[in-house]
This record gives sequence, structure tokens and C-alpha cells, in this order.
Amino acid sequence: MSLEYSTSIPRSLLVEHDAFHEELERATAIPGRLGEMARTVVRVLGAHFAKEEQLALPPLGLLAMLVDGHVPADAASVVRRTDRLKAELPRMLEEHREIVKALDRMIDVALAENRFEIADFGDRMKHHALMEEEVLYPTAILVGEFIKLRLQGASSPW
Ligand SMILES: [Fe+2]
Ligand SMILES: [Fe+2]
Repeated sequence: MSLEYSTSIPRSLLVEHDAFHEELERATAIPGRLGEMARTVVRVLGAHFAKEEQLALPPLGLLAMLVDGHVPADAASVVRRTDRLKAELPRMLEEHREIVKALDRMIDVALAENRFEIADFGDRMKHHALMEEEVLYPTAILVGEFIKLRLQGASSPW
């Protein structure tokens, strides 16, 4: 199955992900337990970010086009991708639980070492995961469901 795809991830989301990566990378260089905890976060984050950037975020780049009443030329490949996201969702939510556990451990150590900026970073990453679960993942799936309806001939509701 080709994942060739004309749509790109909304810039705001890509910038946010890159910023998390950079901040986490810096935290892994901290000596001692805190750096160790940050490296654990990197490990459990593993393929999660990559999967997200392949399945969950690109469909969101279509939102403005869909609101304008258009359907992308590669609609079928978008739907394949969002169907895969739907199938992968339980695993991705499980990954979030593992990531949050690792973040909680990192936050505890950061607070014990008075590294409040790292504790704050951990909280922001937890918030990011929650926002994805509440908003981004369901929206990406809705993009696919909406396109399916349009392909079946339903006219744009606006
Ligand atoms: Fe993410
Ligand atoms: Fe995520």
C-alpha cells in the first residue's frame, strides 16, 4: 500500500513536534538520574512520533481545503491512511500511557532536583498527548470519514 500523499502536516504541528524533540534531546544530556529519565522518555517515545507524523497529522493538513468544499485528488490514499490510524488508535493510546508514565517519573526527579523547567516541559508534553487524544486523533479520523461521505456523493454540508 502506497502512502504517497500530497498533503503535508500543518506547519504549526510540525514546529511543535520539532520543538519537543529538541527540548527532550537537551534533557537527555543532563548528567545523572534526570538525564537517564529523559532518555527513558526518548525510548518509549520511540516510533510513536514517527507513526503520528505518518498517520495522524497529515490528514489535518486537509482541513482548510475540506472547509472550502474541495476533496483532495488523492482522496483514496487519505482514507487508507485514516483507516490505518483508526486501526492503530488503541496501540497509540497505549503508547501515550507508557509515555505519560515515563514523563511522570522524569517530572518527579526534576522536582526533587529543583529543575523546574524540566518538570514544566514534562507537563507540557503530557498536555500535548492529551490534546492529541481529545482533538487531533479524532479530527484526523473525521477527515477520512468526511471524505468517504463526499466520495459516496454526499454534497458538502456548507
Ligand atoms: Fe505528538
Ligand atoms: Fe502522541
